[in-house]
Amino acid sequence: MKILYAASEAQPFAASGGLADVAGSLPKALVKEGHECAVVMPLYKNTIKPEYREKFIFLTNFNIPVGWRTQYCGVFTYELDGVKYYFLDNEYYFMRDFGIYGYYDDAERYAFFSRAVLEMLTRIDYQPDIINSNDWQCALIPVYFQIYYKYNHLLRNIRNVFTIHNIAYQGQYGLNLLEEILSIPRHMKNIVEYDSDCNFMKGAIEVADKVTTVSPTYALEILDPWFAHGLDRILKTKKYKTCGFLNGIDYDMYNPQTDKDIPAKFSLKSKAGKKACKAALLEEVGLLKSPDSDQTDEPVIGIISRLVDHKGFDLVKEVFDGIVQKGCKVVILGSGDTHYEKFFTDMHYRYPDKVSFTCGYIPALAKRIYAGADMFLMPSKSEPCGLAQMISLRYGTVPIVRATGGLKDSIVDCGDENGTGFTFLTYNAGDMLNAIERACNAYHDKKAWSNLVTRAMKADFSWSVSAKLYIGLYEELLSWN
Ligand code: GLC
Repeated sequence: MKILYAASEAQPFAASGGLADVAGSLPKALVKEGHECAVVMPLYKNTIKPEYREKFIFLTNFNIPVGWRTQYCGVFTYELDGVKYYFLDNEYYFMRDFGIYGYYDDAERYAFFSRAVLEMLTRIDYQPDIINSNDWQCALIPVYFQIYYKYNHLLRNIRNVFTIHNIAYQGQYGLNLLEEILSIPRHMKNIVEYDSDCNFMKGAIEVADKVTTVSPTYALEILDPWFAHGLDRILKTKKYKTCGFLNGIDYDMYNPQTDKDIPAKFSLKSKAGKKACKAALLEEVGLLKSPDSDQTDEPVIGIISRLVDHKGFDLVKEVFDGIVQKGCKVVILGSGDTHYEKFFTDMHYRYPDKVSFTCGYIPALAKRIYAGADMFLMPSKSEPCGLAQMISLRYGTVPIVRATGGLKDSIVDCGDENGTGFTFLTYNAGDMLNAIERACNAYHDKKAWSNLVTRAMKADFSWSVSAKLYIGLYEELLSWN
């Protein structure tokens, strides 16, 4: 089977969140299962490292209609770990200075990209059986397929899968963009029209052959208005073609036995290195005041996240003093809303030997936190899948999570003898604090804790299971031909 995975970001070329991890690892897993998989993404000038960029090979170029204009599109290719990458080049759209998204013309940039993906397939030697498009940035791919390409003799057998990684970002714009910018004929506006807007994600949900999301629980949650940001009404009518598969993580990239970013290696069989990682982490973030005393005995809670409301930081803020009073140290890495950045800075000054806050995102420090912390806190209000809790498990760091979306599907509470973490259900600061307290109490029973760490490390969230689920879904679609 031939698959084309379309994403606006993919590791190691461009990343702003979990989508990049998935786009960088699921295609590899599909190839491992014996299929051909290519990834197509924009050729961003500010994120792709020169060592890769120099090796890209130019394939072809053509023009893309964008409303009443046409725009240049170049195609470059490169192969990594058996996965073929196609990079679509247009400097006007993708040579920007700050970050990947957030520009005034994002609608136009990703409409261009989506149309260019399909146009490319009529001009290169790769005609997939399946196109799996991801999130709002690629949501117009199935829409343009429906409008312009489904009768094309080269493309007509393609089946379209659309994957929702986060329903909060839908690509909602005014209907005035329809013909001028998006090249969607007025008589077809019903595909994308929703609540008097033009909604890219709604368009994909409407016309894709299958809609998937990134955990089974999230697939159910988004039928509920509390989670769906308005899309529950359309999703309810498309339940028959919607399902959820839990993401995996890249077990080569996240491996405490081989990780070059951590100071000591460890594994299920020999966990001593984890203690050394903890001491080194405390020293690095300034929480190991005197290297001689064994302060590594206090539990360390790691937090790596965007500091925004829906990740649950309002709860953390509410009971932060209580968390510290439980005898924990807290190591935070992240950036986001200014009031949270300021809050954690203040907390560092209030508890200089207990709390460290690094504002920003430093991938190598993130790995050292995963490896060196004892526990990892993710109290998300909603979490489509979440990857950090899986990475934590891999490094023997016990997750404390709110039971929602993928967190619910990946972490079993320790109330169960097979538990791998601590969970709480109601979105409430007291319940979160209670889960943290249970974790701290468990931490002081050394033998039981060591068994828990073993169970955490044994949990398997590699792609081996979920890649097969995607393949099953793709095969079902092909059996319709
Ligand atoms: C989004 C979601 C996150 C998920 C990731 C990859 O970033 O918010 O929960 O893990 O996509 O699917």
